[in-house]
Amino acid sequence: MKHNAIYPGTFDPFTNGHLDVLERALNIFENVIIVIAENSQKSPLFTVAERQAMITEVIGGYSNLSVEVLREGLLADYARKVGANAIVRGVRQVKDFEYEFQMSLLNRHLYPEVTTVFLMPNVKYTYIASSIIREVSMLGGDVSKFVHPCVMEMLNKKRMERTEHQS
Ligand code: PNS
Repeated sequence: MKHNAIYPGTFDPFTNGHLDVLERALNIFENVIIVIAENSQKSPLFTVAERQAMITEVIGGYSNLSVEVLREGLLADYARKVGANAIVRGVRQVKDFEYEFQMSLLNRHLYPEVTTVFLMPNVKYTYIASSIIREVSMLGGDVSKFVHPCVMEMLNKKRMERTEHQS
């Protein structure tokens, strides 16, 4: 049996923590699809097209991997449609657990053939999250250790656009 995984998230922006989890998933699964999805609780900094472009650039050298967008509907239905038997999620801290536990069991209720697999990134990424990267970089802080250079460039561009817009 083929083991195909989807790796969903808002990826706003895609960080080195995401990349670390992705590399671990690629060591386990034959095929991985990164799925950029919207989280109804969040209002993103980057458009879906920008996020797709940044991820495509970051993962340029990897095979058995693609980047797709879930424009509407449920992730569980998408997993069924593409024949994925696993959903990969990165977990960093205990506080991630409650939300991940809820999503995992709901996705299993909606599509019983899918199992959520939790992977832990390298410890050096356990304290970073897209939200903090967004906040620090929009306030002019250096986050270059935590994102790919192309993501850094896109963050800088976004900060400049925002500064121009405010002045
Ligand atoms: O990176 P995030 O924001 O933690 O990812 C959350 C995401 C996008 C995976 C989740 O909100 C999601 O699956 N959205 C798609 C719509 C859906 O299926 N919602 C119900 C999840 S049980």
